[in-house]
Amino acid sequence: MSVHKVLVLHGPNLNLLGTRQPEIYGQETLDDINSRLYEKAAVNGWDIVCRQSNHEGELIDAIHAARNDDTALIVINPAAYTHTSVAILDALNAYEGRVIEVHLSNIHKREAFRHHSYVSRRADGVIAGLGSQGYYVALDALFAAD
Ligand code: DQA
Repeated sequence: MSVHKVLVLHGPNLNLLGTRQPEIYGQETLDDINSRLYEKAAVNGWDIVCRQSNHEGELIDAIHAARNDDTALIVINPAAYTHTSVAILDALNAYEGRVIEVHLSNIHKREAFRHHSYVSRRADGVIAGLGSQGYYVALDALFAAD
């Protein structure tokens, strides 16, 4: 089996997982989630990089880099930028691989301003409301299709 590359991008404030509104976002830290993702990817022979940034431009730069390094899939939780960032949508539109958008919470059940996602216009799949399971489900779907 060939080794494929996947980039997992976590947007602003997700570095606070575990202590940030745990009743909404859960008890797991970002390190917990990333460790599990690294393990799952290794078992399936995938090369995975997980990154978090609180800065829109850094997320865009990471998407640009993925255009040129054989990254086959981006799993992205753009966090609050989901609802505001045409710039992240444009960057994803310039990327040719598959994109899965993940949200820990069900954004459609929450405040009206969270119901719209710019990124969903580009995403091949969207997972919301499954907590950290959403990331694992995204990877499992990918491995199943491999
Ligand atoms: C989030 C939902 C967003 O509305 C929010 O701004 C986040 C996290 C989620 O994972 O549920 O920071 O993307």
